[in-house]
Amino acid sequence: MGLIPAEIISQVLDRCDIVETIAGYIPLKRAGRNYKALCPFHNEKTPSFVVGADKQIFHCFGCGVGGNVVTFVMKQERIDFPEAVQLLARRVGIDIPEENTEQTPGQNFAQQLFDINSLAVSFFHAQLLSAADQVTKSTRKYLKDRQVGLDVAKTCKLGFAQDSWDSLLNYLRGKNISLDLMEKAGLIIPRENREGYYDRFRNRIVFPIFDARSRCLGFGARAINDDQGAKYINSPETAVYTKGHHLYGFHLSKEAVRQKDSVLVVEGYMDFIIPFQAGVQNIVASLGTALTAEQIRLLRRYTQNVIILFDADKAGEEATLRSLDLLIEEGMHVRVATLDSGEDPDSFVRKRGVEEFQNRIHQAVSLFDYKLKILMSRYSYKTVEGKSLICGQILPTIQKFKNAVMKFGYVRQLSQTLSVAEEALLLELQKDADSSKEQPIALRPEVSPDSSRVVELNLLKLMLEEEAQISPIRNELELSDFLDEKIKAVISRVFEMSDQGVHVTASHLMHSFEDNQILQMLSQLMISDNSFVADKEKLRRDYIDRIKKDRLKFERQELSHQIRLAEVSGDHHTLEDLKHRFNQLLKG
Ligand code: CTP
Ligand code: MN
Repeated sequence: MGLIPAEIISQVLDRCDIVETIAGYIPLKRAGRNYKALCPFHNEKTPSFVVGADKQIFHCFGCGVGGNVVTFVMKQERIDFPEAVQLLARRVGIDIPEENTEQTPGQNFAQQLFDINSLAVSFFHAQLLSAADQVTKSTRKYLKDRQVGLDVAKTCKLGFAQDSWDSLLNYLRGKNISLDLMEKAGLIIPRENREGYYDRFRNRIVFPIFDARSRCLGFGARAINDDQGAKYINSPETAVYTKGHHLYGFHLSKEAVRQKDSVLVVEGYMDFIIPFQAGVQNIVASLGTALTAEQIRLLRRYTQNVIILFDADKAGEEATLRSLDLLIEEGMHVRVATLDSGEDPDSFVRKRGVEEFQNRIHQAVSLFDYKLKILMSRYSYKTVEGKSLICGQILPTIQKFKNAVMKFGYVRQLSQTLSVAEEALLLELQKDADSSKEQPIALRPEVSPDSSRVVELNLLKLMLEEEAQISPIRNELELSDFLDEKIKAVISRVFEMSDQGVHVTASHLMHSFEDNQILQMLSQLMISDNSFVADKEKLRRDYIDRIKKDRLKFERQELSHQIRLAEVSGDHHTLEDLKHRFNQLLKG
């Protein structure tokens, strides 16, 4: 879809009342001038989700999300910005000009791949459910023996690819699909002499892989006989499928993940299917790899709590360890569950039942405990050398925790478990931190303290509440006077809108920013109530005063920092110049 004209977006924002729109999704309760609800984006028992009727924004004090009516619909429906604008426009009868709803070639191509994949899904699925030949019959028996029931086979749209070189190819040709497109979807492979093509998936059980919006991206396919070569073959990378970017089964489990506020990550197709069938609803499969950053980002929109349950073998252990640091870096809370050696979730649930399986999940340990246990089984933790090897591998993980309480809690735990002095561990941790820093000489001055950020935010709020304040502020301050980069970006946009004669409100401003932190900052700022302050003129003068003072202080700090650097490097010429400027600044 092309760009939607700004005018249309403005109309949508003006005509779609945020209270009405959100009330169409969740029950709202009036609370003074605002409305309250249980936040639909995180799990809570008392409402911290607030909708501001006059400002036309929402904000959750629990999880921090916020935005305008379009942002809400994007998040709630999990659609992108143009789709949300379109949906809202349709509801209130605003026409979006025809040429703007046309798909761009890129999106059109992706859609073509989704369509052809969806044809293949139905074809394979129908084969599995109803073909009467001997091979398909024994495939159904194979699945039955592995306790895959009919319901879950239907839910997951499992299929069967016949032992044939061209059955899918002929089927798709019958639907007027070009060979070129079939090849680009990864469904057929050119013959070596380039004369003709053959089906990629033959004599295999087919597992379609869907995205969170239930569009088929590609396939995995399992051999039924041992002599068939690779146990699994998968779609090649296509315009819509990238290995490691997707999570198997997420389209079926995402609502449960959100409700339970946790997700269980397993490795394989069958490790998803068997527990899912047995009632474990908040589960996804990473498809045989360590978790990637892309997969973690998919999950993070639904929950921060991840329980990893990879196969109880060497490969599973390695994959778990590789996933851990990335998960911490992405701010996820991770625990690790383990099975007995040689088991995977599929075999475990079949042998021991789902209750025992749930028990194992409840017994999941923190990733710190997990990693330490593995390291202690690998190295002789009673010797000094062993201790040092273990610390060398676990300290970088501890370092990744942003939360100091957790960091030092783990240091203490490590010290006690290995009987190593805490001071020694802290020293090592410090070394690690130092080697990743760039500036060896004096530390940079503490700039932009929280207090000056608060003043900048208040000034921004003033402008967004009273448009008349914008121009006097503009006359007195420059963008460079603002120290906080995010606030500066927003104010720059406010000035721009005001220059263009566009109506400036928080709600109209919001969709200029894709940065979630900016959206949250804005919604939180605007929902907090200080309308009782009467003298806005005085407020403005105080804020401007304070910002100018902070700016001077900041420049002085910068200069004295540079002076220190010049002193260290012995650059007398620069030093004189800097000192001169410093004195000027003091006088000014
Ligand atoms: N996998 C793959 N290609 C392979 C082997 C594995 O893509 N050659 C992926 C599949 O997604 C598979 C997962 O890795 O589901 C886990 O592999 P494995 O444990 O070997 O398979 P299982 O899922 O246990 O398969 P099964 O129980 O049917 O033997
Ligand atoms: Mn298995």
